Amino acid sequence: MKKKMIAGNWKMNGDVATALDIIAGITDAANQSQHDVVIAPPFVYLSLAAEKILSSKIQLGAQNLADQEVGAYTGEISAKMLADVGCQYVLVGHSERRQLYGETDLLVAQKTILALENGLVPILCVGETLEERESNQWKDVITTQLLSVVDHCGIDAFKNIIVAYEPVWAIGTGKSASADIANEVHEFIYYTLSCKSDNIRPSLKVLYGGSVTAENSAQYMSQEYIDGVLVGGASLKPSVFSEIIRSVE
Ligand code: PGA
Repeated sequence: MKKKMIAGNWKMNGDVATALDIIAGITDAANQSQHDVVIAPPFVYLSLAAEKILSSKIQLGAQNLADQEVGAYTGEISAKMLADVGCQYVLVGHSERRQLYGETDLLVAQKTILALENGLVPILCVGETLEERESNQWKDVITTQLLSVVDHCGIDAFKNIIVAYEPVWAIGTGKSASADIANEVHEFIYYTLSCKSDNIRPSLKVLYGGSVTAENSAQYMSQEYIDGVLVGGASLKPSVFSEIIRSVE
């Protein structure tokens, strides 16, 4: 069986005490899990988190990275720096980055390349808005987002890329996509990438994200094409995130 992934995106929340509290509170569940448990704290807490998770099975990811390698880019954090402080993963193209900070498909592809070049596993987020879903454009939107990365990185790069389907209308809204809807989109993502190469399917992982809770996580995890979850709000509550981790067993 493919290992599943339970990833927590803390976004711009918390402080040192919160970070320590979450890590302490999820360590047992992570250590007992057969699956990959990843946290993505804000940049400034990455080093602290790296130190605290050292003797646990928790893995570290960042929420974003610069689209440049090195140099005079005030305020930016490079892929190399993330790897240097112990990150193994980095979110790329989260819808909040696309919508609030104007990240285009091209920029997302450039960031994906830099992540891969520096040994990080990009968690590439894709997903449609409510308007796009209602006008039945979700397939086009997701195809464009995926193929932009295929065009720039090559299909083989997807052996080292995790895809996260995060419908924009389900993020932070409490309106999660039903397990059936999510599974349908995940199957479409598998299909779209498999059309480019037969070799992708065995290693591909597609996570679902958008209002995942301890109550609905097991339903997602039991779907054929859902290989894990990317959790926002609920990852800030250690007892809830632990329950989500345990819901996979
Ligand atoms: P949410 O966020 O679980 O709070 O909806 C998910 C995400 O944006 O990764």
